Amino acid sequence: MQGGSELPGFYKLSTEERLKLLQKLAGLTEEEVKVLGNTGGLPSDIANRMIENVVGGMTLPLGIATNFLVNGKDYVVPMAIEEPSVVAAASNAAKIARVKGGFKVTNTGPVMIGQIQTVGVRDPRMAAKKLAARKKVLLAKANEQDPMLVSLGGGAKDLNVKIIESLKGPMVIVELFVNCGDAMGANAVNTMAEAVAPLVEAISGGRVYLRIISNLADRRLVKATAVFDKEALGGEEVVEGILYAYAFADADPYRCATHNKGIMNGVVAVALACGQDTRALEAGAHSYASRSGAYKPLTTWKVNKDGDLVGTLEMPMAVGLVGGAAKVHPTAKANVKILGLKTAIELAEVMGAVGLAQNFAALRALASEGIQRGHMKLHARNIAASVGATGKMVDQIADQLVAEKKIRMDRAKEILDGLSKK
Ligand code: MEV
Repeated sequence: MQGGSELPGFYKLSTEERLKLLQKLAGLTEEEVKVLGNTGGLPSDIANRMIENVVGGMTLPLGIATNFLVNGKDYVVPMAIEEPSVVAAASNAAKIARVKGGFKVTNTGPVMIGQIQTVGVRDPRMAAKKLAARKKVLLAKANEQDPMLVSLGGGAKDLNVKIIESLKGPMVIVELFVNCGDAMGANAVNTMAEAVAPLVEAISGGRVYLRIISNLADRRLVKATAVFDKEALGGEEVVEGILYAYAFADADPYRCATHNKGIMNGVVAVALACGQDTRALEAGAHSYASRSGAYKPLTTWKVNKDGDLVGTLEMPMAVGLVGGAAKVHPTAKANVKILGLKTAIELAEVMGAVGLAQNFAALRALASEGIQRGHMKLHARNIAASVGATGKMVDQIADQLVAEKKIRMDRAKEILDGLSKK
């Protein structure tokens, strides 16, 4: 960027002033300024309260996945995502799952872990013993921080003390287990961890450094299961192909990363639509996938006695409906309403179902026709638009590109030129 990146006082400017400055620095056109400044369904003043140095908004397509039957209840599911085929794939998988009753999802409750790192302890074993013995006092101190959560049945319920060996010697780690109710819980847990730290120092004789939530939320799991009818999914050969795909992911981390990425296509799209912390979900998912020491699929696949395919997804799902963007972003609020959610657990369960559906759809496509056919029509439309096609011409050109199996810019331009001459 011209003129450096220091921008002293940038944070003090209004959104419009920041945009003007940015326009000068980056040589933006009036049109680009207009596009950046458009915050869509998120009023500028709310955006300004959500993060710092706001200049505008970034809009993603919002699609609706259909056919979801989760624990006997019907859901239409909002998904915010830039990738073609994800919404269609989820809808299609959910349709097949319906044949055998849809998705059954259970959860372990909304418990998050807060970690307090204590170093420089002379006798770690003794300190750990003392800390464990003062559990009641530590939990009481934690719970003083959030009487509202406690009054709703949540709060710090238990703690664990562990000694770890590290690059800098042994450390005593206190872990608070906090029932976060309908909140994602980062604020509540971090506040509690900070509040108990002086007590932890006094009891252990050590020095506390980090006081922070863990995103390896293995006490906040969802487990989604569905039976996919073998005829509805395309027959025995496809079932066999999916089992081979699962075995591949189980045996090879390079494949497993993509397998789990497909799951996160669904999970993150619903999360974004509902104003959730997608980074926390990703961190939780991949650390949970590695909990055995090897990186493993978040789903398992097997065949039942009828020859139908049974899929199960188990993963951390740290989501909330209070205290975060879900409560302030108008689009997220509308999406929560579309889902008809009563609790954060319900959102977590729907997201588990969508993750499983997404994995099923990806493996089914990969084990049969491949994923490119589904992708190509939308991709071709993007190519047509990017060479300047508008209106009906976009579809006309896209259809021709797909028919010719030449989904390329140069060919799109040729067709466009031909159509324009006519
Ligand atoms: C693409 O975004 C996701 C897939 O690659 C997932 C998978 O390979 O399982 C299709």
